[in-house]
Amino acid sequence: MGGPFADIDDTLFANKDALSEEYQPDTILERNDEIDQFRNALTDVLFGRNPKNVFLYGKAGVGKTAVTKYMLDALQDEVATREEADELYVHNHNCNGDSAFAAVRALVNQLYPDDDREFPKRGLGLSDAFAELYQEMDRIGGTHLIVLDEIDHLDDANDVLYELPRARANGHLDEARVGVIGISNNYSFRQRLSAKVKDSLMEHEISFSTYDATELCTILEDRATLALIDDAYEPAVIAKCAAHAAKDSGSARQAIDLLRAGAEVAEEGGDGTVTEAHIERGRDRAQRGRLRDKIEEQTMHGQLVLEAIARLEADGETPVRSKRAMDVYQTVATEYGEEPLTTLKSIQNHLSDLSMLGFLVKTERNDGRAGGIYFEYELSLEPDIVFDVRADAA
Ligand SMILES: Nc1ncnc2c1ncn2[C@@H]1O[C@H](COP(=O)(O)OP(=O)(O)O)[C@@H](O)[C@H]1O
Ligand SMILES: [Mg+2]
Repeated sequence: MGGPFADIDDTLFANKDALSEEYQPDTILERNDEIDQFRNALTDVLFGRNPKNVFLYGKAGVGKTAVTKYMLDALQDEVATREEADELYVHNHNCNGDSAFAAVRALVNQLYPDDDREFPKRGLGLSDAFAELYQEMDRIGGTHLIVLDEIDHLDDANDVLYELPRARANGHLDEARVGVIGISNNYSFRQRLSAKVKDSLMEHEISFSTYDATELCTILEDRATLALIDDAYEPAVIAKCAAHAAKDSGSARQAIDLLRAGAEVAEEGGDGTVTEAHIERGRDRAQRGRLRDKIEEQTMHGQLVLEAIARLEADGETPVRSKRAMDVYQTVATEYGEEPLTTLKSIQNHLSDLSMLGFLVKTERNDGRAGGIYFEYELSLEPDIVFDVRADAA
């Protein structure tokens, strides 16, 4: 007798990693213009000149990180073959959730030759961290390109972006040259920067538009060939994932996620070919997962109000007014052994919040002189999803 895994001997995946978040593609497709602009911005490095600062922006999943990695790898290969070029050092940092100090400190730690050495977390300030960064860069010499990804998450980006690009002009660096590559998921981040910063960082801006269905097909086709075994999917599957992703977000990440989810559904069902139906089921499952998380994030009373509307919806009683919702909510709360909220206003507040979050649809009614203006509510998702989450929580 084998163990629980013994009978699994077949897989649709040839290289599942190629569908994972960390995978870096060897080839970048459908981004020739952006690659061209990037190339121009980085050319100075080949001749040992000061690098330009580059700013990339575009929505999530449109290839900013992948293209940057691809370009800097290629630049590093090229620099190695050129006499005129200085040594090139690329430092990557994701700014998600960072302060300026944490970001500069992380860069300093990357530059220290010895892995055990760390810049102190406490006691020193941003200017100390910068001084240390410059000292380390000068010690190493050469050209340093600093990639600050998701820089819109940095709460005090101005401080970093004002300092770094000017380090050499301001006499902080003698040996080393420095260039900053900033990447942002939203363009409005630009408006938060001071005019002085815009002047220097925005020397070279590259905008990444969302992908259309045709472009997503090209990217997916390539990825599917790598990731799945031969004949593992119906050709229509690619178009299906591309169409959904193009309509929702224009994100290659979403398109790739859809393909992976569909292939997982097929594999779990023991099916030898991924079909459009598998993609739909995978998508449905992912959507349910997201909804589930969102429901679980709500306060206890918020969830009880939501369950009340779900019960009314399942009984065909919706749309309902807040008074009726409150009656059912009180029953639900009592069933769970919770003390119900007692004012209609508090229930109306929960109903409004749930509508704003997209769980409910709120409709204004006007009964003229007789009833005046009031609101009615109905559920905008399947009641079963709410019941499932609530059953698990109980
Ligand atoms: N033009 C492209 N060619 C090949 N793969 C791409 C392309 N654009 C995006 N991808 C892939 O899509 C996913 C999301 O891209 P990523 O660079 O992380 O997006 P962003 O940084 O803009 O959020 C990654 O798996 C990436 O490899
Ligand atoms: Mg990215």
